[in-house]
Formats: sequence, structure tokens, C-alpha cells
Amino acid sequence: MTMTQQHRIGSGFGAHSTAADVLDGIDLTGRTVLITGGYSGLGKAATEAMARAGAEVLVPARRPETARNALRDYAEVAELDLADLDSIRIFAERFLDTGRAIDIVIANAGVMAYPRERIVPGWEAHFAINHLGHFALVNQLQPALRPGARVVSVASSGHFLSDIRWGDPHFDHDYDPWQAYGQSKTANALFATHLDTLGVRAFAVHPGSILTPLQRNISRAQQIAQGWITEDGRQAAGFKTPAQGAATAIWAATAPQLDAYGGAYCQDCDVAEPATTEDMLVGGVKPWAVDPDAAARLWAMSREFTGLDSFSADRVSSPDGDSDVA
Ligand SMILES: NC(=O)c1ccc[n+]([C@@H]2O[C@H](COP(=O)([O-])OP(=O)(O)OC[C@H]3O[C@@H](n4cnc5c(N)ncnc54)[C@H](OP(=O)(O)O)[C@@H]3O)[C@@H](O)[C@H]2O)c1
Repeated sequence: MTMTQQHRIGSGFGAHSTAADVLDGIDLTGRTVLITGGYSGLGKAATEAMARAGAEVLVPARRPETARNALRDYAEVAELDLADLDSIRIFAERFLDTGRAIDIVIANAGVMAYPRERIVPGWEAHFAINHLGHFALVNQLQPALRPGARVVSVASSGHFLSDIRWGDPHFDHDYDPWQAYGQSKTANALFATHLDTLGVRAFAVHPGSILTPLQRNISRAQQIAQGWITEDGRQAAGFKTPAQGAATAIWAATAPQLDAYGGAYCQDCDVAEPATTEDMLVGGVKPWAVDPDAAARLWAMSREFTGLDSFSADRVSSPDGDSDVA
């Protein structure tokens, strides 16, 4: 999908649609859905809606007990820390051992505006958790993806803040928490762009603006200054509820209308238009977040960092005949 194909398709849904609205009439009985971070914020709203529509929902969680308490008995919880490649491998191996298949992955978990933080092996935290962790997870779950499976990458209009920093993705220089978040969200979008060319129907979504624990690193004063909350603590106009915030990802995961739009970046339950403003509340998609060449380049970079690539045609043999997959 190139930028020229980023145009609304008239889905019949919009910014106010909820997760339940877009699932109305859709029966997910017998489908298995994996939602990272599906126990907080919009991920939790997505988990609830998918389970209500009949899906078996699996929620990998870095805090399994918290997740179990949040979800009671309507989703299965398993331990996974996206900041830790060993944890991702163990989760994936255990899942593959069960022989189960996956119909939908919603790569939703994320962090925002972290103070400078590095995770082993020296990766910048936003890039590592939001992007590389999901890259590693989806690649290792590849054998379980049922034909026709969809992968939805929860990006953000935060991608406006930064293209991929090709020469310094881990911020060895000039760390800025917003640029770090922005880069990771561009990466989420490009991940879907390229994955879709490798035979798995994939979409990226901007969920809208929703007050959730994601803002935990931002002071109340900063949130007021940004116009996210009013002086008396109410959310600003234009913000969504978690159920509205979950709707676009669920629509992208299930809408038959999207079959012909693989790789699209979506918002407000429709394909997004090219961005014509710097206003992230208005949104749209910047060219660098859906550029196929950049998406292929990021895939190659991510393969280099993680040693994983289960989808690309050249994954099995390097020129000297050895496997290039760790
Ligand atoms: N809220 C918005 O306005 C907004 C706007 C645009 C995009 N988004 C995107 O939407 C997604 C969900 O955000 P949200 O607002 O629902 O935030 P949230 O309530 O903070 O949920 C984020 C989830 O990600 C999990 N997570 C964080 N680090 C993890 C790790 N290392 N391993 C595994 N899980 C991890 C969190 O687990 P813990 O609870 O254990 O920390 C939490 O369950 C994010 O990707 C975010 O970038 C949100």
C-alpha cells in the first residue's frame, strides 16, 4: 500500500464508534486473538469486546497477577516482558508447544515519554519495547499464524514526532523522550507496511487520544499545558473513551472491507488520509510512516538487532548457505 492509497473508504464507522459497534454482528467463536497489553487502557477494552464477541483472548502480560485481576476469567493470561528477548522466546515456545493457531494479533502494548532508559543489550526503551519486542514476538509466533490471520500494530499520530533515526536509533546522542516515542510509533507503522508484503495481512492504527495509564510519566501540569485535561481534571474535547480507542484496532482486525487494503494505516475506523497538518489530534499519516522502502529497511535493521526473521524469503540461507536466523 503506497501513500496514494491512503484514503478513506467509507467504512460506515467513525471517531465515536466503539469496540462493540464495530463488532456488531461479528461472531468470533473459535477464533484465537492475542492482545499485548490487553489488561490496561485500550488494550483492556479490546480484550473485553473480543471476548464478548466469542473469541478466545490470550493476553501476554509483564505483570500477570495484575492482568488476571483486571480480566477476571474472560481472557487467558501468560507472562511476557517485551523488554526481554528471552521472555519473548519462552512465551512463544510455550505457545507453539500447545499446537494452537492464532487468528488475530493486536500488537498494542507500549510505553510513552520514558525518561532515558536502556534495556539489555543497550537498546533505547521505546524502540525496544514498542517495536523490537513486537517484531520478535510476531516473528516467533509465525508458525502459529493461521492462513488469513491479521496482525494489527497499534501505532499513533505520535509518529509525527520522528522518522526512524537511521544513524542513531538507540539515541546515543540527543535523547528526547517524545522523539523516542515518535520513532517507535513510526516503527510500528512501518512494521505493518512491510509485514503485509511478506504474506500476512497487516495494518497499523492510530487509536485516537485516550486518557490511560500511558500518560503516567507526564505530570498533571504538563497534561493541562498540552490541552489533554482541563484545570478541573476532565479530559479535553476530542479525546476518546477506551472503548472508542479500541475500535480502530478491532475494526482493522476484523473488517472484511479491509481485505484489499493490506498495509494500510488507519484511524477513526477507516483508512487514514495523508496528514495535512501538524496537529496530532487531527492525525492522518505522514509519508515516512508508510514508505515501503523505509519499511523494508527497518525490517532488515530489526532482523539485525534481534537475529530473527521468520517471514522473508531470504531468511533460511545467507549467500554462503548458512542460516541467517538466530
Ligand atoms: N492512550 C492514547 O492516547 C494513545 C494514543 C495513541 C497511541 N496509543 C498507543 O496505544 C497502545 C496502548 O496504550 P494505552 O493508552 O492503552 O496505554 P496503557 O494503559 O499504559 O497500556 C499499555 C500496556 O502495555 C503494557 N506494557 C508496557 N511495557 C511492557 C513490556 N515491557 N512488556 C509487556 N507489556 C508492556 C502495559 O503493561 P503494565 O500495565 O504492566 O505497565 C500495559 O498493559 C500503546 O501502544 C500506545 O502507544 C495510545
